[in-house]
Amino acid sequence: MKIIKAKDYNDMSKKAAGIFFSQITLKQDSVIGLATGSTPIGTYKKLIEMYNANDLDFSEVKTVNLDEYVGLSGESDQSYRYFMNSNLFNHINIDKANTHVPNGLASDKELESENYEKLIKSLGGIDMQLLGIGTNGHIGFNEPNDCFDKYTHEVNLTESTIKANTRFFASEADVPKTAISMGIKTIMGAKKIVLIANGSAKADIIYDSCFGPITPNVPASALQLHPDVTVIVDEEAYATIAAKLK
Ligand code: PGA
Repeated sequence: MKIIKAKDYNDMSKKAAGIFFSQITLKQDSVIGLATGSTPIGTYKKLIEMYNANDLDFSEVKTVNLDEYVGLSGESDQSYRYFMNSNLFNHINIDKANTHVPNGLASDKELESENYEKLIKSLGGIDMQLLGIGTNGHIGFNEPNDCFDKYTHEVNLTESTIKANTRFFASEADVPKTAISMGIKTIMGAKKIVLIANGSAKADIIYDSCFGPITPNVPASALQLHPDVTVIVDEEAYATIAAKLK
């Protein structure tokens, strides 16, 4: 696990975008795993800037997103499909047919999950996966649990995740209670992983994920077992690591 300290959110976003820039430059038809939430927005802005500067071509890129809320259609402005369209896909030359997000309206969640796994496989697997992290250590919507959730599946969101995500909805009652998410094994199958985190609220969980025991109680701790993970954190999120290294 490589840990890169960035100065601030902007610097973290720049460094993360730089890594994806290299990936797509080296392999134009890369399969890129994407994340939603506040953290990756800056990274997507930088990628859009690179595209606008004619430095990056997304025409052959394929994407798979980590997760989607159950019950929201892609037109709903709280859905992750909508988030991806408005924060990235609408601004670059990617073919939307090559962008994939689980279908939150699928009537059979198990079948949708199986099909999502098959899709990832048929694309040849994920070349590089971008991750944010929840303050409880979730990656995708893999919440703290007694065992690592393996493949794409329907997840019950925890109270803390529902609370954290209320900021994107009119009220807490409007936040969906379940989602379809790649599992830890799906994420671990990515050839390369880039995790980004900023802000003091993420400091303890970044420390626990990178240096604590590997346990499904801290889903991101599984990443310690992956051979190619880069963690990019701003100074605030690095604080607990810095304090313990003193
Ligand atoms: P955030 O969410 O980027 O909005 O902090 C991260 C996550 O919950 O995975």
